[in-house]
Amino acid sequence: MKSQLIILDFGSQYTQLIARAVRELGVYCQILPGTASYQRVMASQPRALILSGGPASVRSAAAPRVAPEIVHSGLPIFAICYGMQLMAQELGGEVAGWGRDASRTGSGETAHTDGDIREFGPAEVEVLEPAGPFGCFRRGEKLKVWMSHGDKVVELPPGFSSTACSAGSPIAAFANLQAKIFGVQFHPEVHHTPRGKEILASFLFQTADLEKDWDPASFIHETVDGIKAKVPSGNVVCGLSGGVDSTVAAVLVHRAIGDRLHCIFVDNGLLRLNEAEEVMDNFHMFGLNVHKVDAADRFLRELEGVTDPETKRKIIGRVFIEVFEDEAKRISDVQYLVQGTLYPDVIESVSVVGGSATIKSHHNVGGLIEDMKLGLIEPLRELFKDEVRLIGRELGIAPKFIERQPFPGPGLAVRCLGEITAERLRVLRIADRIVMDEVRAAGLETVLWQAFAVLLPVRSVGVMGDGRTFDECVAIRAVTSRDGMTADWYLFDETVLRRISTRIVNETAGVNRVVLDISTKPPSTIEWE
Ligand code: XMP
Repeated sequence: MKSQLIILDFGSQYTQLIARAVRELGVYCQILPGTASYQRVMASQPRALILSGGPASVRSAAAPRVAPEIVHSGLPIFAICYGMQLMAQELGGEVAGWGRDASRTGSGETAHTDGDIREFGPAEVEVLEPAGPFGCFRRGEKLKVWMSHGDKVVELPPGFSSTACSAGSPIAAFANLQAKIFGVQFHPEVHHTPRGKEILASFLFQTADLEKDWDPASFIHETVDGIKAKVPSGNVVCGLSGGVDSTVAAVLVHRAIGDRLHCIFVDNGLLRLNEAEEVMDNFHMFGLNVHKVDAADRFLRELEGVTDPETKRKIIGRVFIEVFEDEAKRISDVQYLVQGTLYPDVIESVSVVGGSATIKSHHNVGGLIEDMKLGLIEPLRELFKDEVRLIGRELGIAPKFIERQPFPGPGLAVRCLGEITAERLRVLRIADRIVMDEVRAAGLETVLWQAFAVLLPVRSVGVMGDGRTFDECVAIRAVTSRDGMTADWYLFDETVLRRISTRIVNETAGVNRVVLDISTKPPSTIEWE
């Protein structure tokens, strides 16, 4: 799709939030690296630009910079935090570090780092000039905002005026109305800036005069037409996991090419209680053409004696590809593979701090593309997770299914610490079902990002009836999260905890102790392996 708006990313942790906010306002947009060339940025003929924040300092020689032709392109520009400082520097203003002026620290929290003082957290700005993106406010109006920066603009570029001030800075926002260039030192994209969406909306619709072009129905229509044109004949394969992404991707492709889409569902024996049957029923309800492969024994055999988490993940990834490939080879004239890749997986960001370490290897079917010489269809490549849910709903997929909590590709294997055996999986399945039943009964299924049980290979002494037991332990993990990148543990009501713990010990032979995981991510991950 053509983007009316391009967001140039300078490595801010909030860049995706800007894109989501813009799309929620009904405008399709894409994120490009902040250092992208003028030609690349102009390729989709955008009508406005947003510059994100970022962790670097514009005063450093190594800081990522925006191409000057972009700044002078005449397009309306809204620049946030680091983006505002870049614009100031590029257009002849001056940026200084907070260390230079330590007495004026704003109303936000302050933290000392190497002699610099940074403004971080909630703050208040006063609107000086209700124009441009601030057109929705009154002069003198006070706004609660979220600040997160070390540098600030101390001298306006020629032609600019200050449009808001904070206790920490007389230039908390600036504007050049004629050039349609605006900067804000705070972050309108985060929910801690309650009226941030209004500011973005004023920029999109009043200043830049963009049109609403983004809604689930038009996305489905365009995507289905695109797939029809791409695959006029031949067959397509898709690996279904039972999760939301692969299901929505498959339903979209099925709308375009019907039963020429062959879905392959590998039952790896690591699914939850009755899950294989339930997801198959669902697939049939959507009318999908599904080949189910029962590979539980093979996975269990390959995992025998393995306790190292990374080795487990690698084995599961490899066996999955082998099983999938065997099945796909039975289908004639296969030309494409469908993948449920989402937008966050494809955004190229400016790498300011270098690549990230592999914490866990996630498996996918990427190896197949080379082996079988398949093309790729990634119908969700432009979407964020919450948009996939909207599309799913629009496609008529039941809310119960759409709202499902994420479940990892390697399944219960990463929750069954120590050796994976059929017996230990049986115990874990019952404990997991009890946790989910009680979470649902408490109305918490959609409040929590995930809730599940983990079986620990730790034996402890207990007493049941009159006898001594020496059994394993179950940990309960329940977290809230926006995107799985960070998470907080959830404090259940005492009654819920008591029910879960009593039921697990009573209903699962082999467990005599239940503990609660009260770790945030970071430092802990959500899954235990
Ligand atoms: P962690 O454990 O890294 O998990 O904090 C973050 C989110 O990702 C899910 N997860 C996976 N999803 N394949 C997946 O599709 C995987 O291998 C995998 N490992 C973890 C996890 O459930 C959580 O929501």
